[in-house]
Amino acid sequence: MTYRIAVLPGDGIGPEIMPAARRVLAEVGDFEFHEYAIGAVALDTYGLPLPEDTLNGCRQSDAVLLGAVGTGVQPTDPATPRAEQGLLELRSRLGLFANLRPVRPLPALRAASPLKSEHVEGVDLLVVRELTGGLYFGDRGREGAGGGQRAHDTCQYTVAEIERVTRVAFEMALRRARARGRPPRLASVDKANALETSRLWREVVTRVAAQDYPDVDVEHVLVDTAAMRLVTAPARFDVLLTENMFGDILSDEAAALAGSLGLLSSASMPALPQPGRSARGSLFEPVHGSAPDIAGKGIASPLGMILSAALLLRHGLGLEQEADAVEDAVEHAIDAGLRTRDLGGTDDTETATRAVLSALSSSPGRRTP
Ligand code: IPM
Ligand code: MG
Repeated sequence: MTYRIAVLPGDGIGPEIMPAARRVLAEVGDFEFHEYAIGAVALDTYGLPLPEDTLNGCRQSDAVLLGAVGTGVQPTDPATPRAEQGLLELRSRLGLFANLRPVRPLPALRAASPLKSEHVEGVDLLVVRELTGGLYFGDRGREGAGGGQRAHDTCQYTVAEIERVTRVAFEMALRRARARGRPPRLASVDKANALETSRLWREVVTRVAAQDYPDVDVEHVLVDTAAMRLVTAPARFDVLLTENMFGDILSDEAAALAGSLGLLSSASMPALPQPGRSARGSLFEPVHGSAPDIAGKGIASPLGMILSAALLLRHGLGLEQEADAVEDAVEHAIDAGLRTRDLGGTDDTETATRAVLSALSSSPGRRTP
């Protein structure tokens, strides 16, 4: 079987790290890669951050692999289109409401975490971030004299939007509990002491839990408390369910636990992923972004990108064994001493990619039928 993958390298370090993911994928299966423009690159060529051609290409593919978007510079004129709009529009147009961001610090990298080793030990969490609603997609604008003395963004959620991502999070909690032989746990993060949308969020999560997931240990945590607990007792979290904006912030914080944001991968799904089955139209991207400060130097870590390709294999195509093989290869390469600059080492993009490829070629799980 040949899979068709839409490849969107995007901006900054995106085009430098994307080849690493393609090489790794080519090592474990048969893929046809079709490249499309998004972000600032697309703005330069097409005048739009998400050209129609790109959207169609994504829709015709088995899965989408994205590098990063953004240049680090925000246009001063609010009417000028921004690179990031391309990504937000893509998430929305593909209906990718459930964003999964796993955080599992590798034992070999415990020392790279800003937290004391004993706090990082046992951390194995999954951020389930709502991705197509909330502040990112509500009514917004600039009003008032002289081009806008006032600005607003609005946060809105419907019961249906909250419920569908909540169900994904509960199912993932059950799956993780089964795989790890421990009781299922879920923390729903909101700001119910201040926000109406959060009170609705809590209401929906409470109802879904009582109706269909009585065996899951659920707690509701205010976002400020959650931010604190992520640095004081992160191992207490398992599945962290939250809305779009809180999820953006907390997932970067959680990523630091792993030693570097450069290692984090994500899956954006239009539905609950089914083990062993493909989910067409899902998107996979590293969490770190375009890192304009180091772009063009060949030094960016390709590991978050490669681990996103592993998530593509697992959740996008249902290829569990291949996904495991790629994740194991990254872990083995790190155990064997691979350290990119974000981890305090000197390995550049190419040497890091080669280290993973060589670990992959010596792993027994390779090219499973
Ligand atoms: C992320 C990024 C994006 C987001 C940006 C680039 C718009 O920070 O995927 O976490 O805020 O969702
Ligand atoms: Mg972010």
